[in-house]
Amino acid sequence: EKGGFEHFMLKEIHEQPNAIKDTYRGRLLVKEGIIRMAGIDDNIEKFLNANRIIVVACGTSWHAGLVAEYIFEDLARIPVEVEYASEFRYRNPVITSNDVVIAISQSGETADTLAAIKLAKANGAFVFGVCNVVGSSIARETNAGAYTHAGPEIGVASTKAFTTQITVLTLIALKLAKAKGSISNSDYRYHLQELELIPEKVAKALKSDEHIKQVADIYKDARNCLYLGRGYNFPVALEGALKLKEISYIHAEGYPAAEMKHGPIALIDEQMPVVVVATKKGHYEKVVSNIQEIKSRKGKIIGIVTEGDIHVKELADHIIEVPETLEPLSPLLTTIPLQLLSYHIAVMLGKNVDQPRNLAKSVTVE
Ligand code: F6R
Repeated sequence: EKGGFEHFMLKEIHEQPNAIKDTYRGRLLVKEGIIRMAGIDDNIEKFLNANRIIVVACGTSWHAGLVAEYIFEDLARIPVEVEYASEFRYRNPVITSNDVVIAISQSGETADTLAAIKLAKANGAFVFGVCNVVGSSIARETNAGAYTHAGPEIGVASTKAFTTQITVLTLIALKLAKAKGSISNSDYRYHLQELELIPEKVAKALKSDEHIKQVADIYKDARNCLYLGRGYNFPVALEGALKLKEISYIHAEGYPAAEMKHGPIALIDEQMPVVVVATKKGHYEKVVSNIQEIKSRKGKIIGIVTEGDIHVKELADHIIEVPETLEPLSPLLTTIPLQLLSYHIAVMLGKNVDQPRNLAKSVTVE
């Protein structure tokens, strides 16, 4: 059942090239320059006329929502707010019939997310679901939706659900950008081509597994760990930290790299590993200077970099390379080493990777 892998989590990490392909199969028609998604086509006016998009989700799915915020605003020029479902639903939010709400949920059963969409619907918003489990409560409660088609995710720590959620949301953003004319034809085509190449690039990123294992061995006894990223890779930093916390029980925090100097930099000493996502197109020079700040305070740096990187390599204690891609697609690649790093650390510490303490696969309590 684990397909020769020691844990479901590892199996699901390795399934990502195929899972992403399954997500865009039949939807991404590169040659024709078309993205086909019935749930969007049938409701395109709702999206194009929306005042804003409100994303509601929890946990890892909320992180996918944050990536979506960057991509929707950047490419489709639609304002996006990303909300923790649990906060949104209890704070008397302003919702109008001109709002589009996107609910993201792997299980489709998360109680707070379900309640948030009921509230949004009651206030006249159009609600779109991005779920993995077919026929789940959230999938049924939404007005329309798009499944991620990731296949069953058994490991409690979400991996392929996250990258396939980002894939669906990227398809939607590109589709809306095209319909709105906020992206040039050539840019649009280029994004489609690059998206199609993501599965093989994920496969390549997975090949760093042995090297990541060595890095894991060096830092497995750390008590704390920081994850930093900027732009599209800020949510990836949050997700990397969440993965480490939930399966290894090491305290980890994700931060926007530039926020370091507003407080967290006080934590840096020679005991503190800092994982920095520093890919070439993502504000690279700025991240390099953030790395210098950490270095001068003796923090240990693990850089997630673009293949062939030279500057971060000079500064970092370790680098883990991922293939180059367009910046909006980079989270699909930079997430991979962070999943593997947490996985190996947790295994080395003897933790129950697939069923971490205190956690459940779907959170049906409020
Ligand atoms: C993290 C994790 C949780 C879920 C969260 C939302 O690895 O699994 O944070 O992402 O409970 O679950 P869904 O997506 O099922 O609504």
